[in-house]
Amino acid sequence: MKNIRPISDPAKPKVYIETYGCQMNVNDSEVILSILQDDGYVLTENMDEASLILANTCSIRDNAEQRIWGRIDQFRLQKRRRTGVIIGIVGCMAERLKDRLLDGHVVDIVAGPDSYRNLPALIKAVTPDSPQMDVMLSHEETYADISPVRMDRNGISAYISIMRGCNNVCSYCVVPYTRGVERSRDPQSIVREAAEVFDAGYKEVCLLGQNVDSYLWREPGAPDRTVDFADLLEMVAKTSPELRVRFSTSHPKDISDKLIFMMASYPNICRHIHLPVQSGSNAMLEKMRRKYTREWYLERVAKIRSVMPDCGISTDIIAGFCGETAQDHEDTLSLMREVGFDSAFMFQYSERPGTLAAMKYPDDVPPEVKTSRLNEIIALQNTLSKASNEREIGKRHTVLVEGVSKRSSEELTGRTSNNKVCVFPSCGHKAGEYVEVEVTGCTSATLISRPV
Ligand code: SAH
Ligand code: SF4
Ligand code: F3S
Repeated sequence: MKNIRPISDPAKPKVYIETYGCQMNVNDSEVILSILQDDGYVLTENMDEASLILANTCSIRDNAEQRIWGRIDQFRLQKRRRTGVIIGIVGCMAERLKDRLLDGHVVDIVAGPDSYRNLPALIKAVTPDSPQMDVMLSHEETYADISPVRMDRNGISAYISIMRGCNNVCSYCVVPYTRGVERSRDPQSIVREAAEVFDAGYKEVCLLGQNVDSYLWREPGAPDRTVDFADLLEMVAKTSPELRVRFSTSHPKDISDKLIFMMASYPNICRHIHLPVQSGSNAMLEKMRRKYTREWYLERVAKIRSVMPDCGISTDIIAGFCGETAQDHEDTLSLMREVGFDSAFMFQYSERPGTLAAMKYPDDVPPEVKTSRLNEIIALQNTLSKASNEREIGKRHTVLVEGVSKRSSEELTGRTSNNKVCVFPSCGHKAGEYVEVEVTGCTSATLISRPV
């Protein structure tokens, strides 16, 4: 495990990294920092003193990309003020837009998600007249041998990417094009990384992949010897009963009974599944190419709850996908009520160039209808989140303390196994400890509790 905190050394060049998008991108920035640190760089949190400015970008929705274009304008000012500053756009937007990012002469380096090992070479080759680009996608790269330099602030919870890419080709989604084909990382390297972070004082790991349920490792030379996601989860859970294990994201079509039973048999595997449904309408699910039905989804939820009644279930929902009718939208609302999600990420459909949906279906739900449907979905989810938290009042939970609460320095904050944020009076406890609490009240976002 490498140094968590940057050492200030005036002789070393400084890199400033901004990260956008999903948890996998956050972990990728930690991989990038590891590679750059080996090349002599140190991290700075002050853009004004950096000789290398990187933005690790996201393409998932148009507004994610618009934000980056805005940032590139800001970076232009840095270049005007200080000669020799190198600007790099890396990650999904780099992969999607490639040399179009070089228009405007601000960006010096464009590097896709599988090109990070090549960053030191790209940096060396840059001159004011020759920007550098590497957007090759790989069938093998998993950065398995690289120890990410942790950039989280709490030192309690670490991300571990267990796979890269995605083979699903949901019709609205840009990820298969920006991240390439799915590949699973050697389980031994994952177990080693979990042990390393635990030895360094971390108390929780979150295993990351676009579709963790399709994780599959075939032993080279013995392809019938395989490790699937449930096996991997068990291997990581055995690191220590004191290490909590989370994971994200599960795909409803792939989540297996074996996985559900594996979760139930290890108390340190957190009782939470992020299970994006996207829509409650079978017509929409079909067009989205999600490869499951509403009925299948509800059956999976029933199975999870029959094995783990206390398991938190969260989801993602898209409002206003191509051709969505008022009835399709009602079907989403009714599914939300039927499941009673504990929390959700909710979005308006944003057409992404090059995806199947962009080529096949008109983006025909008017913007104001998308917005009003999204608002209804958000309002309903607020009610469901509140109700879900109210059900916890009077119950006891073990909270892993992540730090001091934003609201009061006398209070601590952390999460329960089922992924609810919980605040309580510190009573001498500190970050990294497990504390037994009793829930005494709640808002729609937070459980209020006291140590028992
Ligand atoms: N691999 C995960 C999701 C990754 S993207 C899965 O399959 O569940 C995270 C979320 O962004 C998706 O679940 C979806 O709800 C949303 N999303 C993806 N593409 C989108 C688009 N074109 N417009 C709006 N939301 C989108
Ligand atoms: Fe995108 Fe679907 Fe892959 Fe998730 S499973 S990343 S939504 S293509
Ligand atoms: Fe965005 Fe790429 Fe993640 S598009 S959501 S950063 S995989």
